[in-house]
Amino acid sequence: MAVIGLGLIGGSLAKAVRVNRLAATVVGTDTREEELALGVELGVIDEAAASIADAVTGSDLVVLAVPVRATRDVLNAVKPYLSAGAVLTDVGSTKSSFVEDVKAVFGEVSPTVIPGHPIAGSEKSGIRAANPDLFANHKVILTPAENVDSSALMRLRALWEGCGATVLTMSVAYHDEVLAATSHLPHLIAFSLVDTLAGEDENMDIFRYAAGGFRDFTRIAASDPVMWHDIFLSNRDAVLRGIDHFTHDLDQLRTAIANQDSATLLRVFSRAKAAREHFSRMLSGQAYVTNNSQKQVTFRLQPGGSVTGDIRVPGDKSISHRSIMLGALAEGITEVKGFLEGEDSLATLQAFRDMGVTIEGPDDGFVRIHGVGLNGLQPPRGPLYLGNSGTAMRLFSGLLAAQTFDSELTGDSSLSKRPMGRVADPLRAMGAVIDTAEGGRPPLKIRGGQHLTGIHYEMPVASAQVKSCLLLAGLYAEGVTSVTEPAPTRDHTERMLAGFGYHVHRDNGTASVSGGGTLTATAIDVPADISSAAFFLVAASIAPNSELVLRHVGMNPTRVGVINILRMMGADIEVLAEREIGGEPVADLKVRSAQLKGIDIPEAEVPLAIDEFPVLFIAAVCARGKTVLRGAEELRVKESDRIQVMADGLAELGVETTVTPDGIVIEGGQTIGGGKVDSHGDHRIAMSFAVASLCAVGDIEVTDCANVATSFPGFVDLALQTGIRIAAEGGE
Ligand code: S3P
Repeated sequence: MAVIGLGLIGGSLAKAVRVNRLAATVVGTDTREEELALGVELGVIDEAAASIADAVTGSDLVVLAVPVRATRDVLNAVKPYLSAGAVLTDVGSTKSSFVEDVKAVFGEVSPTVIPGHPIAGSEKSGIRAANPDLFANHKVILTPAENVDSSALMRLRALWEGCGATVLTMSVAYHDEVLAATSHLPHLIAFSLVDTLAGEDENMDIFRYAAGGFRDFTRIAASDPVMWHDIFLSNRDAVLRGIDHFTHDLDQLRTAIANQDSATLLRVFSRAKAAREHFSRMLSGQAYVTNNSQKQVTFRLQPGGSVTGDIRVPGDKSISHRSIMLGALAEGITEVKGFLEGEDSLATLQAFRDMGVTIEGPDDGFVRIHGVGLNGLQPPRGPLYLGNSGTAMRLFSGLLAAQTFDSELTGDSSLSKRPMGRVADPLRAMGAVIDTAEGGRPPLKIRGGQHLTGIHYEMPVASAQVKSCLLLAGLYAEGVTSVTEPAPTRDHTERMLAGFGYHVHRDNGTASVSGGGTLTATAIDVPADISSAAFFLVAASIAPNSELVLRHVGMNPTRVGVINILRMMGADIEVLAEREIGGEPVADLKVRSAQLKGIDIPEAEVPLAIDEFPVLFIAAVCARGKTVLRGAEELRVKESDRIQVMADGLAELGVETTVTPDGIVIEGGQTIGGGKVDSHGDHRIAMSFAVASLCAVGDIEVTDCANVATSFPGFVDLALQTGIRIAAEGGE
């Protein structure tokens, strides 16, 4: 391997390759003779080559680690000596300029030329700063062309992975755009700010008073001037776009300060604070992560235990989403307590911030939303990212179809597989213009400025998300929008609309709204989520010697299927202190161990317990006799195919089940063995197998559990506190 240029990155790569024994010989060359000599002395390279010709001759891999603007000259020097089939790569921060240089020198980008960029570095430069661990837990972006030689790409990928990096591939243009925003612009601003301040004070005396904020913000202004000079000139267009955008926004802040415009300042700062906190979580340990699902969390469970205590599980997810949506669209300030600080409802909150709504919090479940009125949303600057949340995407599609601006809704890999035709089709019948990806999947591209007209819609599936989507669109439509459901589904939207003073007509299975009204801000107290309580209802039922109290649980009749089903199975659940809070029934639940029995689950209960089946399957395994579920094909299009994924997980633990197209048959009384279960990134599957451990005879490992944070932050601590023998690896 030949490394041309022994600065921080070239030196660190050379050393990492040597330390990890990834190449037979690492040859280095550099125009600075002292650096070259130091390279051998410090063990960074095996051999020093006096010229590029010497370094390149006979090398299988040639890495350019020179300032970006020197690339073309270096390539000219490399060309005559490059062996046929040798891989040529670089480590520069801009990729289009490298590709242009390659084309200028070689006439084409051959299949063994693969541009690269490690997203790692420091403000230090030079070979003395070379650090073999520089790339560990960092991302390396490769931008191969379409004609790339796949074995060359595989080898280069293996090299970087051998240095501890995670390799991503993307197009050259996308790389340059992303890096202009996330790296180049911040460096420019740091250089500029330090220069401005230094210029204001000849003796630079002000720096004596500079505190942590200055130090944190300007650390990168100590970076290598030549390198950055080159980067800005090479990525000129993308950087200019970034500067213009930033200058425009900075100017808006200037105006807000000049006009004492508190609303704008609060809006921008709280949106930025939330975004930064989100990034900090994503960034922990890694320099470049795109979404949460890349975090690997594993649950390890020891068998047995009893479940006791007095707990309150986090706030209801469905109600939390809706509190933000209606609060944002209301006139006035809505205060919410008990808000679920899970990733799904936080995605909804962030999306409204992205559309110009000032939202304070969440602070220990308290959120204050400065409503902008039904017509007060502003166009988001880019796609709204809704993570793992089907509810957010389906409800948003209804209200965004009616806005004056275009929007795009995206999500993680699970959400990107879920059907959205069920909302797009009826919305189109109302006059909406929506594009989906193939098969009606996300992303959804919604055209603004359409005139919506009310329709009557007979829903083919019992879905509260579809119903809510259409009712939200109906707030903006001309005339009446009415939705009939084939079976009762959760009615939080109807109840909450009424709470915001918007009349919803309800008649048997039909809910209707007339467009053109207004929402008036209100106070919302979110009850604990019965879907989260469900894990503990089953846990305390199946574990011997258990007694657990669950406080303030939402008992909306459209949600209590899990209690009905468990009671039919013989569970001992007492409903205490029933009360109504903010239009939703709430109670405390006391649950004790009981010998459960298998049942035929009545189909009418299915929509009322739709999210609770994974853990109900665990109850069925621990029951005596057979449990049969039918009419539940919806489970196949949740965050995962919950019928198949549960059956597969149970099979791993030695439990046989019979899967049917719309349900499952489970013979109770089988032994739950130890084993390794893949939750497929589905929060409810992960938590269900944690509960299964209480009746298991061996250790259970559940993988891909990071998404538990979407609906139940703090699950592991609460489970541990009540007696489940759980440990999480890889979590925060
Ligand atoms: C939800 C409705 C249900 C449920 C989801 C939340 C809601 O989905 O599974 O977790 O908040 O409206 P469907 O209505 O699509 O069944």
